[in-house]
Amino acid sequence: MENRSSRSTENVRFVDDVFSAIGSDLRAALERDPAARGAADVILSYPGFHAVAAHRFIHALHRSGIPLLPRWLSNVNRFFTGIEIHPNARIGRGFFIDHGMGVVIGETAEVGDNCTIYQGVTLGGTSLARGKRHPTLGNNVTVGVGAAVLGAITIGDHAKIGGGSVVVRDVPPNATAVGVPARIVMKDGIPVSAPAEEEANWTWVI
Ligand SMILES: CC(C)(COP(=O)(O)OP(=O)(O)OC[C@H]1O[C@@H](n2cnc3c(N)ncnc32)[C@H](O)[C@@H]1OP(=O)(O)O)[C@@H](O)C(=O)NCCC(=O)NCCS
Repeated sequence: MENRSSRSTENVRFVDDVFSAIGSDLRAALERDPAARGAADVILSYPGFHAVAAHRFIHALHRSGIPLLPRWLSNVNRFFTGIEIHPNARIGRGFFIDHGMGVVIGETAEVGDNCTIYQGVTLGGTSLARGKRHPTLGNNVTVGVGAAVLGAITIGDHAKIGGGSVVVRDVPPNATAVGVPARIVMKDGIPVSAPAEEEANWTWVI
């Protein structure tokens, strides 16, 4: 009896957490898209919002150990939104995927709080081995349109990745990385010209 009641308390907490995270995603879209015309606009017409909201339920099913169904639902999610998020991917609060089509977020990817990504972004793996093989984004990271962030690398808090970039090494916090392969053009608000001396000392240089 006690077990059943503690399980139902847990379920209530879980539903609360999911809805509260979805609320933070809604606020993120309103704050970060100047084209958003209000909550109803986002709820009705933003595939990025739909995909993340669905993922939050799918991820919970996945974590509760239900086989097959979460993966199938993530495919249904992809069919309707053009956004593929593996059920195991861990997504922080206030996540905004703008436009969305073509986004892929891999199985062991982790995304911190208040991150923004645009259409065509891949958070992908570079290894066929099981285990951690996808990137970790810190908090307040922005990944521009069409960028590929590949491997078990870390993108630091407040970092920006330029549209079309390919990033295969860690990016430090407060840095802007652009190009193929990505190089740092800004760190702590100070422009970095390549190949600068400071840049040569950073371990992330490709
Ligand atoms: C990376 C980004 C955030 C940098 O913006 P910023 O801080 O204002 O930096 P700047 O525009 O001053 O650019 C700094 C340098 O990086 C270069 N650069 C900027 N973005 C680049 C990119 N995506 N690819 C390659 N080089 C880029 C600039 O040419 C400049 O080089 P220079 O100093 O040799 O002239 C921005 O360019 C970007 O790509 N944002 C993504 C936006 C997006 O995806 N929008 C989609 C809307 S649908």
